[in-house]
Amino acid sequence: MLISARSFDEYRAMFALSDDDLALRVLDCPGGSASFTALAGERGTDAVAVDPQYGAERAGLGDLVEREIAHKHAFMTENASKFVWSWFGDAERYTRLRTEAARTFAADLRTRPDRYVEGSLPNLPFPDRSFDLVLSSHLLFSYGAQLDEAFHLSSLIELARLARRQVRLFPLLHHTSDKRYEPLDRMRKALDGYGIPSRLDRVDYAFQPGSDEMLVLECADRGALPASREGANAHDPVRWRHLGDAGGPPEVGAQHR
Ligand SMILES: C[S@@+](CC[C@H](N)C(=O)[O-])C[C@H]1O[C@@H](n2cnc3c(N)ncnc32)[C@H](O)[C@@H]1O
Repeated sequence: MLISARSFDEYRAMFALSDDDLALRVLDCPGGSASFTALAGERGTDAVAVDPQYGAERAGLGDLVEREIAHKHAFMTENASKFVWSWFGDAERYTRLRTEAARTFAADLRTRPDRYVEGSLPNLPFPDRSFDLVLSSHLLFSYGAQLDEAFHLSSLIELARLARRQVRLFPLLHHTSDKRYEPLDRMRKALDGYGIPSRLDRVDYAFQPGSDEMLVLECADRGALPASREGANAHDPVRWRHLGDAGGPPEVGAQHR
């Protein structure tokens, strides 16, 4: 699987992130080499990224991703007609923005290493309701041909376990075929059974044709989730640091911290 480097601005558009959203505590899963956590952090957002690739080999990630982006440039140029260019303009700008995002990520990984936590769905190393908002791009649904339905449902439940307010997922299409992930409606029904209503919201971003929709899970009033999850009691190294003590999360419904 590719590790990719979407930019903070792409995240804002993909997930329709408002200034109010960016005042919340946010988890990016999977963070990959995206510059979201770096640039959100720069503007004061309490953002954390999690990805299996943030382990011992993390120092080499920046170079690896830059090589992948350079390698992909020829493909993007040759296959330009398969994509929507309203966001990037053309393949040159696409490659430049992704390279900038990869470099921003790599610099932040060096200067704020604890913002990048090693972990894998469907068991993430954070206690319940550790974040207000959980973002997830280009793993679930995108890799629907490789990752089975049980993995998807467990992963959605895991993301909902961590969110005090919402989970937002983008896109809803397979990355290979541009077709919507077929079991999506079934999964939404299953989540509804756990007291997690969901909706599809149109967003102002598409790169795959027809991909301008995100899935939003409303988690504030969710019920009990299936049997205790592996990560549920894990130590979260960056938990609520912004509060200045180990005081725990503010109440859901409090506007901002
Ligand atoms: C295509 S990248 C997307 C990264 C980022 N969200 C972006 O849009 O640039 C997919 C990422 O999923 C990560 N990944 C693979 N398996 C995972 C799992 N089980 N749990 C969490 N992340 C996983 C990979 O390491 C990779 O960084």
